[in-house]
Amino acid sequence: MPEFPIKALLLENIHPVAEEILRAQSIDVKCLSKAGSKESLKEELKGVHVLGIRSKTQITKEVLDLAPELLVVGCFCIGTNQVDISAARLKGCPVFNAPYANTRSVAELVVAEIVMLSRKVAHRSALLHQGRWEKSASACFEVRGKTLGIVGYGHIGSQLGILAEDLGMRVFYYDIAAKMPIGNCRPTETLEELLKLSDFVSFHVPETESTKNMISHDRLKLMKKGSYLLNASRGSVVDLEALANALKSRHLEGAAIDVFPEEPEGSVSEFKNPLQNIPNVILTPHIGGSTEEAQKNIGVEVATSLLQFVANGSSSMAVNFPKVDLPIQSDCHRVLNVHKNVPGVLAEITGIISEVGANIESQYLATDPAIGYLIVDLDKAVSAEVKNRVSALPASIKTRILF
Ligand code: NAI
Repeated sequence: MPEFPIKALLLENIHPVAEEILRAQSIDVKCLSKAGSKESLKEELKGVHVLGIRSKTQITKEVLDLAPELLVVGCFCIGTNQVDISAARLKGCPVFNAPYANTRSVAELVVAEIVMLSRKVAHRSALLHQGRWEKSASACFEVRGKTLGIVGYGHIGSQLGILAEDLGMRVFYYDIAAKMPIGNCRPTETLEELLKLSDFVSFHVPETESTKNMISHDRLKLMKKGSYLLNASRGSVVDLEALANALKSRHLEGAAIDVFPEEPEGSVSEFKNPLQNIPNVILTPHIGGSTEEAQKNIGVEVATSLLQFVANGSSSMAVNFPKVDLPIQSDCHRVLNVHKNVPGVLAEITGIISEVGANIESQYLATDPAIGYLIVDLDKAVSAEVKNRVSALPASIKTRILF
């Protein structure tokens, strides 16, 4: 139990499940639907220990300076670009997110698109909306027995592989890291090999220098005639002009694209891209991970990480912090200290512990180049003194105690 009542502020319409989870542990939660601005946060962050945001609230070093009591930040979304995570680390604040809460949602959309492309559903639907009834089996195929090539066999790629195998597809993948194949999926040695053998190629890689324009004119030429390309990863991965040409020349028979090099912030009515009006191309506005389930998963995952940090100091899922996950001990108090990673600080802390004659039940230190995160479980009688003396050390950033 923390030594003081914990106050949480949740901004930007975070899923209500997060509020439920925090309240169930006696945390005082205030929810606001709007994002926080630099000006509004000055007031709103007063006395706040736990802050939950989505992607719009910018947590800069300046904002963190306004919130000395802040213990932890939860990004109820996938990315953490909106937070200055290194400034947060130096303030002793771990930052949590939910990078894999929407994995299944993306994999499901892609597997559905594979079937829809193969049956030319988008094209036929568009025609029928215009009143044109064009019933034909020509160039429409089952996906059973066809080959799917997955580029990037991480969380989404491997889930997709399982779903595709369940449909009777043969699945190959290419990844720069060694990945254990699940089911009957098989790796290829090179991307080129994968492109040549696949009927469908689906991209699930991060945005990095190595994935920028990974699919160019030359690589599209390597794909089988009549094959299909799907991208629900990042817009920079596929050269859309080159893809448009490959589709117009009928080298490729269709594509499904969920992500674009430039994406608008909010809703717009005039979004332009080179693939518009090409038959059998499914275009979606970056909705791969956008489901009610994913939103709820994000709420549960991040609220649980916040609670675990508040209640026992666990930081193992944080994006900017040394990883510690130590089960809480009964019959002792836990002192948690974040300090600058400078020579001698650990000796000073152990000196204090030994001077007060504390009996240590367990102790764990994790460091990164900037900070050290120390958890010590010790007897109840001396915990307050240890906390006070450790927090007075010049290298200490944040020290708290759990009863
Ligand atoms: P992950 O990190 O679990 O997997 C990515 C995989 O790509 C890793 O196995 C990595 O080794 C591999 N990889 C990296 N560079 C590569 C290269 N040059 N060639 C081949 N493999 C490479 O990521 P996760 O969660 O599976 O996400 C994949 C992508 O999906 C990310 O770009 C993410 O931003 C995007 N995404 C899109 C969503 C949407 O709404 N459309 C929602 C969620 C994620």
